[in-house]
Amino acid sequence: MAANYNNSAWFYDSLARLVYGKALVNAQVYLLKHIPENAKVLIVGGGTGWIFEELARIHPSGLQITYVEIAPNMMALSRKRNIGNNQVTFINDAIENVDLTANFDIALTPFLLDNFTDENLTKVFNSIAVLLKPNTLWLNTSFQLTGKWWQRIMLKAMFIFFKLTCGIEASKLPEIDKCFEEKHFKLVEQQSFFGEFIGATVYQK
Ligand SMILES: C[S@@+](CC[C@H](N)C(=O)[O-])C[C@H]1O[C@@H](n2cnc3c(N)ncnc32)[C@H](O)[C@@H]1O
Repeated sequence: MAANYNNSAWFYDSLARLVYGKALVNAQVYLLKHIPENAKVLIVGGGTGWIFEELARIHPSGLQITYVEIAPNMMALSRKRNIGNNQVTFINDAIENVDLTANFDIALTPFLLDNFTDENLTKVFNSIAVLLKPNTLWLNTSFQLTGKWWQRIMLKAMFIFFKLTCGIEASKLPEIDKCFEEKHFKLVEQQSFFGEFIGATVYQK
């Protein structure tokens, strides 16, 4: 499925910072308080892996993290990060192709689900949903449209840019909330960032 950010690995974080300041980081870090001690954590689409350093600040040890990232260049950068004394299994593949044991305590999908067409989102979503134990949390960050005119323009510009540079398949936002609702996940917490253009949500399985 086409959402591989390989070509953008060398500039992704700088561009994100230039356009959004710290909003993309703040939205993800905001959710990390929900990660229990010694949890078995699934991270899908972690990009350059800066999240490891934020995780290690909160949980210097005890986490067992499985890190699935499709882009080899993103993975190479992620491997260089400081993971503290946490354990990390790096898997350089698409989540829908990976065969993992369904025993995760929590899943993180930071700006992953908004990259797909509705059809492929369902496949990616389901491949993650089955890996979570009952009653566990799914921490998601995505772009969202809340009616402000500039959000549509920024979104369009992003999709065009990443289609040209990386071949990203989406050209409009897929129905992410619907996926969670259809699979009977319960919305536990919701917070917006950057003029409501960024949504950080906590769902419970
Ligand atoms: C928009 S980037 C976000 C990166 C990072 N989470 C951040 O916020 O800086 C989405 C990431 O998901 C990865 N990705 C896309 N499809 C994937 C899939 N099916 N399985 C695993 N990773 C995927 C991309 O290569 C990219 O690194």
